[in-house]
Amino acid sequence: MAQRHHEGNLSLPAFFPYSHTLELHTPQDHNPPRRLLSLSMPSFRMLTWNSTQSRMLCSHSQNHTISTKDVTISRRYLPPLFSVAPMMDWTDNHYRTLARLISKHAWLYTEMVVAETIVYQKENLDRFLAFPPEQHPIVLQIGGSNLDHLAKAAELASAYRYDEINFNCGCPSERVAGDGCFGVRLMLDPKFVAEAMSAIAANSDVPVSVKCRIGLDDHDSYSELCNFIDIVASQSPTRHFIIHARKALLNGISPAENRKIPPLKYEFYFALLRDFPHLQFTINGGITCIDGVNAARRKGAHGVMVGRAAYNNPWSMLGHVDATVYGVPSSGITRRQILEQFQVYGDSILGKYGPNKPSVREVVKPLLNIFHSEPGNGLWKRKADTAFRHCTTIKAFLEETLDAIPDSVLDKTPDKISSIYEDVFADVHGLLPPPYKLREQEVQYL
Ligand SMILES: Cc1cc2nc3c(=O)[nH]c(=O)nc-3n(C[C@H](O)[C@H](O)[C@H](O)COP(=O)(O)O)c2cc1C
Repeated sequence: MAQRHHEGNLSLPAFFPYSHTLELHTPQDHNPPRRLLSLSMPSFRMLTWNSTQSRMLCSHSQNHTISTKDVTISRRYLPPLFSVAPMMDWTDNHYRTLARLISKHAWLYTEMVVAETIVYQKENLDRFLAFPPEQHPIVLQIGGSNLDHLAKAAELASAYRYDEINFNCGCPSERVAGDGCFGVRLMLDPKFVAEAMSAIAANSDVPVSVKCRIGLDDHDSYSELCNFIDIVASQSPTRHFIIHARKALLNGISPAENRKIPPLKYEFYFALLRDFPHLQFTINGGITCIDGVNAARRKGAHGVMVGRAAYNNPWSMLGHVDATVYGVPSSGITRRQILEQFQVYGDSILGKYGPNKPSVREVVKPLLNIFHSEPGNGLWKRKADTAFRHCTTIKAFLEETLDAIPDSVLDKTPDKISSIYEDVFADVHGLLPPPYKLREQEVQYL
């Protein structure tokens, strides 16, 4: 079995040595006893992260009285400083493999896997849950509204050794929040979310987190958001919330429109940091470049999650993460090297789940954005269209198409960060809503 990759370890092994074939984490792997593993993690993580991060961890755990179980969790649990968001049909194994080649330290979230899929596909779980060990740190996102299924899904997923389980309370799609009655709709029922989180945590030995919006429809006040956080955190082991800083509209607009139309309210996120200092919050929504990530961190964000920009422009977004967010030397990898290594992965997974499953097109899909805005990108995509029709291996696909890209592009390391960035967080502290606890006290005096 390949070695587990511990985040924060500065002497990481090289990823995907050329001689490797695909190796997925499956429950059949030899695992150390899980309790032992989780006990040994805290000290490891604390010792190897840099001093700023250790200080941050200490200051979060010092000021509060929490239960023994919480101490265990919070001591080992430093939220991802940078993560790639869960995105259905996008953050699959193929994309995550590419992302991990570009950044060794970014946390990677899976697409949402519905609890029922896990429960009813027990015979077929590898297809939904297995991943190459290099993808650590990796978080499984699950969705659902049936407590038994959520508990069983967490139990079945434990064997795959994800680093965290995240619960989806933000999806606005009709299938999920409408017919399915889960996703963002669960924000209206924080007690249920607390029960679900308790059930998930009881069946897993890794930290659990919630990803939510700042509200939905008319339930969009800061106090309603605080009420949700308060109930979930006080009635379950959840200590980490990922906040997509816009509300959802369940009035028939599409999920894509729900990522554009409701305005971003970063001030709600920063107010949560102030009002729940014992919890960890990751900010998400509308952050499109590494300068934005750094600006959010400078304002105090515990972690920053990026979705579309990490998919649509992975090289530029992820290529700076290790050096500028984690403060470790970047690997200096070029896109030529990434493609060579990705090819080994890709060719070893083609057809693994049946004829043409996955296909060349599916495996190559995340690569198509790697030359975003570079010379030769348009030609490369046109050649790719043709190559998809007949290439049966990733090697053949790359040989046929890559001459569209100049050597200078293939061989360069990530560019220096441009300095033209308008800091969207500049005035955020002036916009914060009144403190949550203060407001409660005021209500009592009336
Ligand atoms: C194609 C696509 C699929 C998504 N699927 C999920 C999902 O499965 N679970 C989830 O919590 N959010 C999902 N999201 C929302 C993202 O995780 C993220 O919250 C959103 O895109 C805002 O972040 P961004 O502005 O950085 O993209 C999806 C977004 C996109 C673009």
